[in-house]
Amino acid sequence: MSEAAKPESERRKFRAIKGTRDILPPDSALWNWFEKAARSVMESYNFGEIRTPIFEETELFARSVGSDTDIVSKEMFTFPVVPSAHELALNLFEGQQQFNQEGDFVSTDDAQRFREEKAGKLVSLRPEATASVCRAYIEHGMHTRAGDQKLYYIGPMFRRERPQKGRYRQFYQIGAEVLGTSDVPAIDAELIEMLTVLLERCQIEKYTLLINSIGCADCRPKYVELLRAKLREPEIFSKLGADSQRRVETNPLRVMDSKLPEEQEIIEQKLPKISEHLCADCKTHYEKLKKELKLREVLFTESPRLVRGLDYYMRTTFEITSPILGAQNALCGGGRYDGLVEMLGGPKGIKGIGFALGEDRFIDAIQEAKKIHATRPVDVFVAWMGERAYPTAVRLARVLRGEKHTVELPPEETKFRKALERADKMGARYVLIIGEDEIASDMLTIKRLADGKQEKISEEALVDFFRPPVPSKEGPGN
Ligand code: HAM
Repeated sequence: MSEAAKPESERRKFRAIKGTRDILPPDSALWNWFEKAARSVMESYNFGEIRTPIFEETELFARSVGSDTDIVSKEMFTFPVVPSAHELALNLFEGQQQFNQEGDFVSTDDAQRFREEKAGKLVSLRPEATASVCRAYIEHGMHTRAGDQKLYYIGPMFRRERPQKGRYRQFYQIGAEVLGTSDVPAIDAELIEMLTVLLERCQIEKYTLLINSIGCADCRPKYVELLRAKLREPEIFSKLGADSQRRVETNPLRVMDSKLPEEQEIIEQKLPKISEHLCADCKTHYEKLKKELKLREVLFTESPRLVRGLDYYMRTTFEITSPILGAQNALCGGGRYDGLVEMLGGPKGIKGIGFALGEDRFIDAIQEAKKIHATRPVDVFVAWMGERAYPTAVRLARVLRGEKHTVELPPEETKFRKALERADKMGARYVLIIGEDEIASDMLTIKRLADGKQEKISEEALVDFFRPPVPSKEGPGN
C-alpha cells in the first residue's frame, strides 16, 4: 500500500534528527533580534563578517582543536569525500556503514579506519569556527591587509554530544577573532568588553566572567609536568575518577576543569595553580590584562581552573557563565591562540584571540532574564469585506509594508467578527477596517486592539497615523 493510502496514524512520520531542532516563529523573531544586536555591537568595534564553509578537512580540526580533545576524538560528524562520481557513489553506499542502528554517526576512529581503507579525504562538519577562520586568513593572505584583522561569524556548528537542554548536536555560535602581529592585552580586554556590552544590550545581568592565563610554550610544559607529578601521588591519584586518572598521562590540564564532585576538593586545595607558575612575560601579560579590564570597568573573577577544552589556547582564557542556565551554564568561551596560524602553515608571528558564544544558550538567557516569550508580531491586520474593498485593501497593505510595518492581509474575504478574532489571536496591534461603508464614505476605520478605541481617517492620513513607526517588536526592551 502506498504511504498516502494508509490511515494517518500508520503513515511514516519524519522527525528532526536527535540533537537538532526547528526554531519557529515567534521564537525566530528573538533569534533575529539577537543576531542583529550582536552584529551592531561587533560592527561598532569595527569587526567585519567572515563566512566560511560548514565543512572542512578533518585534519584542520585535528591539528588545531587537538586530536586528543573530546571534540575531535568523539564528537565530530566525519565523512569521506572522493574525487570521482563513481567513487562518490560507492562511498555514499559504504558511508551508510557510518550510522549505527540508532541512526547515529559512528566515531571518528571508525571513520579514520574507513579513510585508511578507502584512502579518500575525510571532511568534518565544523565543530567550531576558529580553525576555519585561521585557514581562511592564511588562504587569502589576510596578513598582508592593513592592521589587525577583526572578524566575526554567525552560524551553525556540529558536535556529536549527548543532547540535553542547552546542548545540541547542531547549535549556533556567534564568534569573533582578532588576528595580527600584536598580542597587547588591550586587544584581549577590548574583545571581552565587547562581550559585556552585548550582554548589557540583552539585559542579561546575572553572569560571571571568569578569566585565567594558561601560560605559553615556555612555562606551560613545566607546569604540566609539575601537575602530572602531583596527580601521580598515590593519595591523590587514588581519589580521581577513571577519566581523570587517564588524563594524568594524556592531558593533565583537563583534570583542572573536571566537574566530578569528589574531585573538587583535590582540585581546589591540593593541585598547583598555573597562575603561580607563569613565566615573567606571561605574568606581565596577565597583570596588564587585569588592569585593562579594570580600566574598562569590566568585572571579572579569576579562575585558576579555567583551562578550556581546546588545545590551541595560550595565555588568556575566559568564559562567561550564567546561573540562570542550569547544567549547561557556559554562555561563551574564548582565549588567545598565538602560534595557531603558524601551526596551520601560515606566516610566522601571527597572534590571535577570540571567543564564541552559544546562541541557543543566549536566547534561553534572554528569555529567562526578561521572561520574554511570545512577541506581538503583527502591526496591522487588514479586515476587508466586499469585492469593492479588496483592491483598496491590497493597495494599502502594500503601502504600509513599504513603511516597514508588518501587515496581515487575509487572502479571502472574512466576516467582520471572524477577522477581529483572528487579528486578536495574532496579537495584532491595529485592525484596518475596509468595508462597504468605508468605500462609500471614502474614509477608513482603524481599531486599536489594546483598548478597542476606533477612529476614522482619510486614506491620505493613513501613513502618518502609523508614524513614528511602531516600536521594535522583538527582543528585550519591548
Ligand atoms: P567552546 O567553549 O567550545 O569554544 O564553545 C563556545 C560556546 O559555544 C560555549 O560556551 C557554549 O555556549 C556553546 N556551545 C558549545 N557546544 C555546544 C552545544 N553542544 N550546544 C549548545 N551550545 C554549545 C569554541 O568553540 C571556541 N572556538 C571559541 C573561541 C573562538 N576561542 C577562540 N576563538
